[in-house]
Amino acid sequence: MDWGIKNRLAKIIKPKTGRTVMLAVDHGYFLGPTSGLEVPARTIEPLLPYADSLMLTRGVLRTSVNANTPIPIVLRVSGGTSILGNLSNEGITTTIKEAIRLNVAAVALSIFVGSDHEKETLLSLADLINEAQEYGIPVLAVTAVGKEMSRDSRYLGLCCRIAAELGAHMVKTYYCDGFEKVVEQCLVPVVIAGGKKIPERDALNLAFNAVQSGAVGVDMGRNVFQSEYPVAMIRAVRAIVHENMAPEEAYKLYSSISGDEQK
Ligand code: 5RP
Repeated sequence: MDWGIKNRLAKIIKPKTGRTVMLAVDHGYFLGPTSGLEVPARTIEPLLPYADSLMLTRGVLRTSVNANTPIPIVLRVSGGTSILGNLSNEGITTTIKEAIRLNVAAVALSIFVGSDHEKETLLSLADLINEAQEYGIPVLAVTAVGKEMSRDSRYLGLCCRIAAELGAHMVKTYYCDGFEKVVEQCLVPVVIAGGKKIPERDALNLAFNAVQSGAVGVDMGRNVFQSEYPVAMIRAVRAIVHENMAPEEAYKLYSSISGDEQK
């Protein structure tokens, strides 16, 4: 693999543990001012010390993250749809030139396998990889799931493997039963999305199960920033990902830090 790609990936996946806690705050690209991200800067700022990278759009990056912040950026470069339209009909929204100008560590794009726009999104991924590779920029493929699509290991395994076959350097997907197989057959590092907000204890279990099944970490959004205590939550997730802390211990950590946050 190209030195630049390896070096950028090492900014995201920490070489010390081989794991990563990515903070996803890109939701506005199709959800608008979603709960917890109404004023992104306010949400992001206290979480920054505990995130290994930030996944976001250029709009949020420019307006809501101080350029002096040394955090690696995973730039979402796909979009063009909203929650009111056909979500799978995404295209590339941001050029590689812009990604370089913004000094990103990676670019991210969603693929919609099994949707009406499967082919377009897969070819967009291939085009993005062809171009990003020229400049040593890794590509994170996000296996987006429509309402009508299942989230089982057969389907997610299919999406992840196709992304890897097209050349993605990392894949973001959902945790499911039989996740070890999905990870093993993906060929490149896998991170999980948290999905819709669930109780903290369940989200910590999800993170634990994912890393124990071989994921290199999480790219979590709503289960962190929609938590009542986002800092406590990301710190508990960090302990699971980087220290292999058991979920019950991590929940205790969450409770004790959230107690401090309340005071
Ligand atoms: C959609 C996305 C999201 O915008 C986001 O990154 C998902 O994170 P989470 O599910 O943890 O809120 O990738 O496909």
